[in-house]
Amino acid sequence: MDAVKVLATRTLPGPAWAELGDVEVGSDGDADVLIVCNEPIDLADHPALRLIANYGVGYDRLDLDACRAAGVAVTNTPGVLDAATADLALALMLAARRGVVSGDRLVRSGAWGAHWADPPRLGREVSGATLGIVGLGRIGSAVAQRARGFDMTVLHVRSSEGNLDELLRASDIVSLHVPLTPETHGLISRERLALLRDGATLVNTARGAVVDEDALVGELVSGRITAGLDVFAHEPDVPAALFELPNVVLTPHVASATVETRAAMTRIVVDNVLAFVRGDEPPNRVV
Ligand code: DGY
Repeated sequence: MDAVKVLATRTLPGPAWAELGDVEVGSDGDADVLIVCNEPIDLADHPALRLIANYGVGYDRLDLDACRAAGVAVTNTPGVLDAATADLALALMLAARRGVVSGDRLVRSGAWGAHWADPPRLGREVSGATLGIVGLGRIGSAVAQRARGFDMTVLHVRSSEGNLDELLRASDIVSLHVPLTPETHGLISRERLALLRDGATLVNTARGAVVDEDALVGELVSGRITAGLDVFAHEPDVPAALFELPNVVLTPHVASATVETRAAMTRIVVDNVLAFVRGDEPPNRVV
């Protein structure tokens, strides 16, 4: 490792991290290897760069064409965060439809009685609901598997298929699991959000920009639908209009944030960096 300089935008959790030895933490300075968390990188700031190891499966903020042109390899961490992400999608479905967070706030405010007397606060069932999964890759499939335990009817669609509109009309819950690409940017448009049933729940653990966020805020402010959102179009900014709404549950992009999954992601990052340093093909190369 001595001849190779490794820079990381943050220290990663888990025992594998120590195998990299000296890693400079920061985003400035030149290095052979840069470990990032999907932050955009200006290659001009890193002329010696040969590898970007992304701590995450999604690399939508990295300019792959520029990396390709500059001969910079890029790796990611697929396969180890499917269960954790699917678990959070289910948690958001349950929390949004059963008022877990708004109920918690009521209890803390001492308003216990009002909760039960007030019909607008009644939840919606998760068991037996129709679940529409947009994007049936590894994570979408893990969500489908969990949905079976709740006796849900599962519909699914790939983002490019024509029956997305049909799925949106037919589902009680819609869960998004597509990567952010030029094709999926704004996929859940204002017009498509309007297709959701009254009382439907939108869950997004994919990327905020897959949805027209302004239109989503409008639907939530109207109270027509509920949502569980782990991702936002301009993170870490979250539309302030959402903060006081009882019909949306907000989490700060933490779908993969468990001790076990983050350690497994670090293991993959480290394996890719070590392979690169040895002169081997990194196992999770995307460019
Ligand atoms: C990913 O892996 O792309 C997640 O969104 C970041 O943990």
